[in-house]
Amino acid sequence: LAIVAGLILGSYLICGIPFGLILARLTGNADLRRVGSGNIGTTNALRVAGPAVALGTLLLDALKGTFCILVASHVLAHGADLALAFVGLACLLGHIFTPYLRFHGGKGIATGVGVLFGLYWPLALIHLGIFFVLVLISHRVSVGSIATAAAIPITFYIFLPSMPATALIIWSCMGLLVVWAHRANISRLLSGDEPALSFKRRGSA
Ligand code: G3P
Repeated sequence: LAIVAGLILGSYLICGIPFGLILARLTGNADLRRVGSGNIGTTNALRVAGPAVALGTLLLDALKGTFCILVASHVLAHGADLALAFVGLACLLGHIFTPYLRFHGGKGIATGVGVLFGLYWPLALIHLGIFFVLVLISHRVSVGSIATAAAIPITFYIFLPSMPATALIIWSCMGLLVVWAHRANISRLLSGDEPALSFKRRGSA
């Protein structure tokens, strides 16, 4: 139990690292929390700081999730599905409620996909596929994000049929958590104010 608790706490603390904010600051850009959507993730890094910072944010936010899940799967006994699900949840909680920014973090998509890569990479590819198809159709990153998060119970049920119901519930809660983290995007989508994906920096011509 102490090992599981250590993995959960460690994953929470590692996934709390706000790479988007750090990279934007290191490259002399504005505080992501004060510009654009105010989010510290890849989409806002793209808006505010450009593609290079966005790519770095995406990779580091995803890799922190992959790293934590891979370490946990290595340490935990095979078949410890529930403990692994809690580690995944800790990763998302760390990113969304980061202890380093007074518990105001990101929305969990890059970290969530990173976690899925560590758990079962084909599932991560399926979720990326859902994400890209919806972004292509809607031209809104948040639509892809919300759809891919909401799809978790279905994709897990289909592609990981041996997963115990308790673990499936925890993973589904993570999907709900990510949808909840997009609540401001959902209001903007409903009112027609959600900006379309653009590779132009905010304020640039
Ligand atoms: O995953 C984040 C994305 O879906 C929305 O980001 O900055 O437009 O709120 P943002």
